[in-house]
Formats: sequence, C-alpha cells, structure tokens
Amino acid sequence: TGAFTFDPGFTSTASCESKITFIDGDEGQLYYRGYPIEQLAEDSDYLETCYLLLYGELPTKQQSEEFVNTITKHTMVHEQLTWFFRGFRRDAHPMAMMTGVVGALAAFYQDSLDINNQDHRRVAEYRMISKIPTIAAMCYRYSTGAPFVYPRNDLSYTANFMHMMFSTPCEEYTPNPVLVKALDRIFILHADHEQNASTFTVRLAGSSGTNPFAAIAAGIACLWGPAHGGANEAVLKMLDEIGSVENVPAFMQGVKDRTHRLMGFGHRVYKNMDPRAKIMKQTCDEVLKELGLENDPKFKLAMELEQIALNDPYFVERKLYPNVDFYSGIVLSALGIPVSMFTVIFALARTVGWISHWHEMIADPLYKIGRPRQLYTGSPRRDYIPEDKR
Ligand code: CMC
Repeated sequence: TGAFTFDPGFTSTASCESKITFIDGDEGQLYYRGYPIEQLAEDSDYLETCYLLLYGELPTKQQSEEFVNTITKHTMVHEQLTWFFRGFRRDAHPMAMMTGVVGALAAFYQDSLDINNQDHRRVAEYRMISKIPTIAAMCYRYSTGAPFVYPRNDLSYTANFMHMMFSTPCEEYTPNPVLVKALDRIFILHADHEQNASTFTVRLAGSSGTNPFAAIAAGIACLWGPAHGGANEAVLKMLDEIGSVENVPAFMQGVKDRTHRLMGFGHRVYKNMDPRAKIMKQTCDEVLKELGLENDPKFKLAMELEQIALNDPYFVERKLYPNVDFYSGIVLSALGIPVSMFTVIFALARTVGWISHWHEMIADPLYKIGRPRQLYTGSPRRDYIPEDKR
C-alpha cells in the first residue's frame, strides 16, 4: 500500500480530536460532553442540549434564558427567501429544497460569512439553529401547496416547529405535550453522533475555509443518502412494500439472499444495541398509546418485524440490532409527519452537532484542509493517440 494506510470507509482512521461526543459501540453507550444520552433524553430539552453541545457545559438559568431568547428572536427568515422557494417545482423532494435553501442562506446573510471573525461565526450559529426549523416547515408547506406559517415566539422550539408544520390561517394547531415531548426527544437523540458521514462532510467542507452555511448545506446533502439520514424514510417505505405480516417471511428470505437490507437495522459503530433506539422504542410506545394507534396495521407490522429480526440467527450472528431510525420513522409517521420530511427532521436536529464540530475544528491549532490520499490503480503512463488512430 505504499506510504499510505488504505482504509476504505475510514473504519479505522481517526480524522480529528474531539471533546463533543463519545460513543462506546461495544457497550452501546452514547455521551454528549460526558452526559449519558438517557439522562439528557429524560431530563433535558433540545435547546438546553444544543447549548451543552455548543459550549461544553449545561447552562445556568440565566445562560439558558439568554440562549433561548436569542434563538427565538432569530426564527423568522428573510422575506425574500419565500421567493427563492417559489423557484422550486412543487413536487421537489423537501431534502432537495433544504440543501438548496440552506446553502443559499450565505446569499441572504452576508454579515456572518467571515470565518475568522468570532462574532460572524456566532451569528451564523444562531441563525442556523433558529431558522432551520422555519425552513424545514417551509419545505413541507411548499410541497403541499399550503401557505407558509410564521413562527410564534411564545412557543417552545419544538412546539413552534409543529405549529409551523400544521397550523393554517383558518385553524391554529394546538400542540399536544406528549407529542411535543416525543419530537423534542427525537431532536435530542439526533443532535450529534461524532464523526458520522455528514459531520465528517461538514468538517471536510469547512476545512477549506468555506462559509458555515455552505458547510452545513454539504452536511445536509450527505445526510440525504439512505445509508445515513435517509434510513428512517427507507424504514417506512419498506413497511409499505412488505404490506402485511404474512409477507414478512418472504421479505426476510430476501434479506438473507442479499436482495435487500432490513432498513433501520445495523450500525457501523454500535455492535450492541443502539442506546438511542432503546429510548426511542419507549417513546414509540408512548406516542402510539397517546394516539390510540397500537392496533394500526402498519405499526403492528413494524413491531412484528422487530421481534422476528431480534430472534433470527442471521441478525444475531451479525450483531444487527434496530437503530434509532427504525423507531423514529414510526414515531414521526404517527405524529402525522410525511415520510419525505423524515430526513429533513434529522437535518434540523443534527444542525447543532454539525455547527459544534465546525466551531471545534476552526478553533483547533492542528486544523488544516482535509486532503486524503489514494492508491492509484489506473493505467500507467501512455502517449496520446490521435483520433483517427484509435
Ligand atoms: N440488513 C441486512 N443485513 C445487514 C444489514 C441490514 N440492515 N446491515 C448490515 N448487514 C449485514 C451485511 O450484509 C454484512 O453481512 P456479511 O458479513 O454476511 O457480508 C454484515 O451485516 C456487515 O454489514 P456492513 O455493510 O459491512 O456493515 P456497515 O457497518 O458497513 O454498515 C449500515 C452499517 C448502517 C450502513 C448498515 O447496517 C445498513 O445498511 N443498515 C440499513 C440502513 C440503516 O438503517 N442506516 C441507518 C444507520 S443509523 C443512523 C445514523 O447514525 O446515521
């Protein structure tokens, strides 16, 4: 392998030092800034978790109030952004719109593009955390032909997102606290996950010195893939394809024959249970109960599939357990959020993780442009052949 280490998929390469998130894949544990994810999911809320990820400590009461106030104040987007939306086809995938609109924020907020200026970096951070729910809801509204809904500053971050998704000029959406808590928990569980593909993408894009909006747009583009953020969407599509419990054995045979994968199962790092999945399963039960959906055929099918896979030697031998996306897809679907919005929700929640890593990278004295090497396997040197001699 010459002078380079050959590591396709970076399964054994650490690309940076980080103080943000720690994963113990063998033990199935996840910590944000040292705090176990179970405690944060139970006792914290999304904005407090954002503060923790960004600044390294839980906020005092005053810090929390200031942070919430700042984020809340920035939730509206530039009115001209609505015109930007109108350029998209109505049937555009919301992730296609998210990638474009978040990248375009650099064109709207030119006073926060200088990465060498700490004030610019902080303003960009506030803007993205505040405005991404507004943009996400606008993607949904645009795709359904519904009018955009302005944010409400009297609601919590998550309740406000649900308001922007579901209110209409004729009827205000009344947030149900159980459902708001469930969505908030999804946000917490997806807020960071160390050097996953999209976070690595944000760091790599950011390492060139590009502006933060462009770097986060790159992360969103990466997250879109079905092996990463698109997995919860793929879970629901898979449930639709299977259709009913009778078809599960044939589907499972197809998995073993490698015709398709069981979406929402397996993880690159967790070779034990995904700790987020445990929390999400409990939330899933609570939401289905609250909405009286325990006997809904689609959700029953999901639970049946989960049990069969957990006891199947193919999955047991390969240490394939349900990951967070198996259950989050089900919860989002029960909340009335369309499948095409699932990855958008993931992007919304992960934005704070991406920004935290971006800040950490820029502050790192070892920071330099990412530039991996390759093992060249192409043709040796040869001379150009004129067209009439080829
Ligand atoms: N269904 C069936 N078989 C699987 C699955 C699956 N979901 N995942 C892995 N395997 C098998 C795979 O065929 C291989 O078997 P063998 O050793 O016989 O060749 C073995 O398990 C190892 O698979 P791998 O592809 O080498 O594992 P990986 O660590 O590269 O892949 C993964 C991780 C998440 C891409 C993969 O498990 C997968 O495709 N899962 C389905 C998609 C999914 O749910 N993704 C969400 C990940 S969690 C969200 C996030 O953090 O981004």
